[in-house]
Amino acid sequence: MSTTSAPGQTTTDQTGGARPPTPRAAPVEQTSGASAGDQWWRSAVIYQVYPRSFADADGDGMGDLPGITARLPHLVELGVDALWLSPFYTSPQHDAGYDVADYRAVDPRFGTLADADALLARAHELGLRVVVDLVPNHTSWDHAWFSEALAAAPGSRERARYLFRDGRGEHGELPPTSWRSVFGGSAWERITEADGTPGQWYLHLFDVSQPDLDWSNPEVREEFHDVLRFWLDRGVDGFRVDVAHGLVKAEGLPEWDAELEMISGTLAGQHGEARTPPPMWDQEGVHDVYRGWRRVLDEYEGDRMLVAEAWVEPLDRLARYVRPDEMQQAFNFAYLVSPLRAADLRDAVDATAEAMDAVGAPPTWVLSNHDVVRHTTRFGLSTDGGNPDGLDASAAAPDAEVGLRRARAATLLMLALPGSAYVYQGEELGLPDVAVPDDARQDPTWERSGHAVRGRDGCRVPLPWEGDAPSFGFGPTSASWLPQPSAYGELALDRQRDVPGSTYEMYRAALRLRRELALGSSPSLTWTDADGLARVEDGVLALRTGGALVVANLGDTPVRLPDGAEVLLVSGDLAHGGDGRSLPPTTTAWLRDPSPEV
Ligand code: NOJ
Repeated sequence: MSTTSAPGQTTTDQTGGARPPTPRAAPVEQTSGASAGDQWWRSAVIYQVYPRSFADADGDGMGDLPGITARLPHLVELGVDALWLSPFYTSPQHDAGYDVADYRAVDPRFGTLADADALLARAHELGLRVVVDLVPNHTSWDHAWFSEALAAAPGSRERARYLFRDGRGEHGELPPTSWRSVFGGSAWERITEADGTPGQWYLHLFDVSQPDLDWSNPEVREEFHDVLRFWLDRGVDGFRVDVAHGLVKAEGLPEWDAELEMISGTLAGQHGEARTPPPMWDQEGVHDVYRGWRRVLDEYEGDRMLVAEAWVEPLDRLARYVRPDEMQQAFNFAYLVSPLRAADLRDAVDATAEAMDAVGAPPTWVLSNHDVVRHTTRFGLSTDGGNPDGLDASAAAPDAEVGLRRARAATLLMLALPGSAYVYQGEELGLPDVAVPDDARQDPTWERSGHAVRGRDGCRVPLPWEGDAPSFGFGPTSASWLPQPSAYGELALDRQRDVPGSTYEMYRAALRLRRELALGSSPSLTWTDADGLARVEDGVLALRTGGALVVANLGDTPVRLPDGAEVLLVSGDLAHGGDGRSLPPTTTAWLRDPSPEV
């Protein structure tokens, strides 16, 4: 994708100053894998299924694979191309499955390997691709390797799969470094040796139950090639790679005492200064790992893909994960944390296009996932961007109506952008985040931070399918692993289906039009002022892409739409614009482009 400005257009920074259009690097050809025509992931809409909370077939209150399989027709009706499944592997669930005890087995809570095969087969039958989660930075402490490491002696082959070190201090009583865990507290935990004496320490960048693997060890690399093959042989279409920027640590584990944040409200994204990354993130060595994985994927037919979850900045660092011989996609968090303001969003889009064009990779767009406050609520709290800590049940609720209006406008803008888009389960219903009561919280950050960080439970509450059913149709009983708020009933799928103007119908229409107008695969996007009607300095963005003219009014006053352009879809109600032909504030419209660039 490339972005340009129409002749004479300038982009405007936040202070109203004009600057010239973003210069663009020449696109680079992808050198490996299938031809461009086969590269489905370049423009795919990928729907994230969080297995715990999507659909519960057996009624135990925890979602499962048979539940997902039964609900796959929903994804077809919605119009997505693929689904990404968060982890369903055997796990003690200390971090909701991102603590894997066996990478080749399905956790009994979610079903069996046969259920996974059935899900894959049914999805493929329905024309949906399936991406699964891979968690390579750490295992669970219940993984066989970790038990072997605890039973073995310091310096053994078993310990060498993880990052065990002697402690500092006279008796090794101090952690080897000051590194902090992303979830709070020290990133080191001391073990008791097999003979009962206080022993070495192991590194865990996340929960204490998630020991980090040592990726300088060839045995670890071989094991993950084998895990990839295990799932590729079963037919998966790709992998979402958890903490892709964390696998390799700087030689010697140098000292670092700053707080570690994966998801911050201050991720500078495109504005970030180039700087030396901390010793646990974004080390050069990770790229060698992904080149190896790419070679494994390329042995398989069917255009399989890898998508990096890499919280790195600035965007040209992210682009290094999607060079032609590495992964195909990386989540673009710079867009997710961008303030909901015209100039910032335009900057985020331009910077993304520039960085991804330079390596020939498609941009990706995402507004919500299982780690951040749902965007309906984020935007109800503020338009400043960033990801707040989860909601406090005792505090005033954010403005749901304002949040939804902003979220719908942001979503229609996102779904028009060339490249691949991610939709997190429930956003198609406009679900808000939930203020989960403190005594029901399950996210390990809550305990590890001494109740200072509320965590991510609010975006993980089970989905409402039927307004009048027990657990709103999540399962056959009223059981739900996190409490569902009564407001979810009104937002249930069956309350929105075929209801004109509902958020669900807006998503469906957008995905249908996106396909018809080939918006995802549009090679370029041109910013326009729509005949002088849309000005960034007034908070309005207008762009032409594929066959569409898209106008997002994020300003304070209605904006007159160009005469003669057919309105295809609006995130709000044009009647509120005053004259029926003006776009009200906080609203995005898709119009058929009266003069598309061919
Ligand atoms: C990122 C995942 O998205 C998150 O849910 C998890 O807690 C961490 N990685 C650790 O695996």
